[in-house]
Amino acid sequence: MREIGGTRNISGPFQHAPDSDSECLKPIAEMICPVFDHQWLNDDYKHLVVEAPVRALAAQPGQFFHLLCRESDDVAPYLRRPMSVYRIDRDQGRIEFLYKVVGEGTRILAELKPGDGLNAVGPLGRGFDLSSKPEHILLLARGVGLATLAPLAEAARERGIGVDAILSARSSDVLMSVDYLRQSSAIVTTVTDDPDDTHGDSGVDKVEEMVRHIAKEKGTGLFATCGSNRLLQMLRKVGVELGISGQVALEQQMGCGLGMCYCCVRPFQNTVGEIDYRRVCIDGPVFDLQETVSW
Ligand SMILES: Cc1cc2nc3c(=O)[nH]c(=O)nc-3n(C[C@H](O)[C@H](O)[C@H](O)COP(=O)(O)OP(=O)(O)OC[C@H]3O[C@@H](n4cnc5c(N)ncnc54)[C@H](O)[C@@H]3O)c2cc1C
Ligand code: FES
Repeated sequence: MREIGGTRNISGPFQHAPDSDSECLKPIAEMICPVFDHQWLNDDYKHLVVEAPVRALAAQPGQFFHLLCRESDDVAPYLRRPMSVYRIDRDQGRIEFLYKVVGEGTRILAELKPGDGLNAVGPLGRGFDLSSKPEHILLLARGVGLATLAPLAEAARERGIGVDAILSARSSDVLMSVDYLRQSSAIVTTVTDDPDDTHGDSGVDKVEEMVRHIAKEKGTGLFATCGSNRLLQMLRKVGVELGISGQVALEQQMGCGLGMCYCCVRPFQNTVGEIDYRRVCIDGPVFDLQETVSW
């Protein structure tokens, strides 16, 4: 592993972030990370592996980096693009991202070649919290949401926590990370709309049945989800009924990613049922499942 020069401390709200021992209190920095590998996984998704300095390797599941998408010195979208950490390989000194190419920024990102430098700011935000020491967690991801949830399986394994993961996707072509999750000792169930899918379809009712079954059989202590509003709403309902707490990683368009511009504000419901407004980049992106409101 090599430390990459030129990192720059960014002072900001994280320096005096409130009332929590969240990993987001760790120092954040702007850094240039040499690209180690960059491959298409299918028509839509790319897997990017970069060499990262030690401070970036402190990233926790659910945290993200703000990536500069630069085609040349002249052509670059003004705003960075937020991307969750998909894997943190502390032994090799690498961080991995799994992302869907959707627009200008990610199209430019997709052009990076091994040896190029990725300009990243991070690690940012508050990640998942396993401090309640559940014996079993159930991950529920749709589409690219699994990029955010996958490292949580590894973190859970390191703590001796059992993991089941339900991965939902429109087709098996875009189902990814099954092997990575299984390597992390997760029991993986996949649901797609493919006609030959043994589970029938990826509809919410079907997934709810699976969630209830696994939660009762395994004594789930925590739900974690990302990637679908409909699955989020279903998990909230099941969580209340079965008395299981949950966490959700939210995606919101961002400006600064540092808590200063208020571009990422959205409504939440506090513990007494009142609506309050929080910044996804700094108060999240991981939030208590029951505090989210529909969008
Ligand atoms: C904390 C966080 C973590 C994320 N992690 C991942 C990840 O691991 N993998 C991944 O593929 N994507 C992830 N995203 C979404 C990713 O940031 C956007 O897809 C990306 O910024 C789009 O940039 P673009 O320039 O290619 O597209 P744009 O041209 O900016 O937009 C293309 C389309 O994507 C939508 N979009 C843009 N930004 C976001 C956003 N932040 N959230 C939701 N929709 C958006 C736009 O409304 C538009 O419809 C994450 C977003 C957040 C906030
Ligand atoms: S993106 Fe600027 S405050 Fe969240």
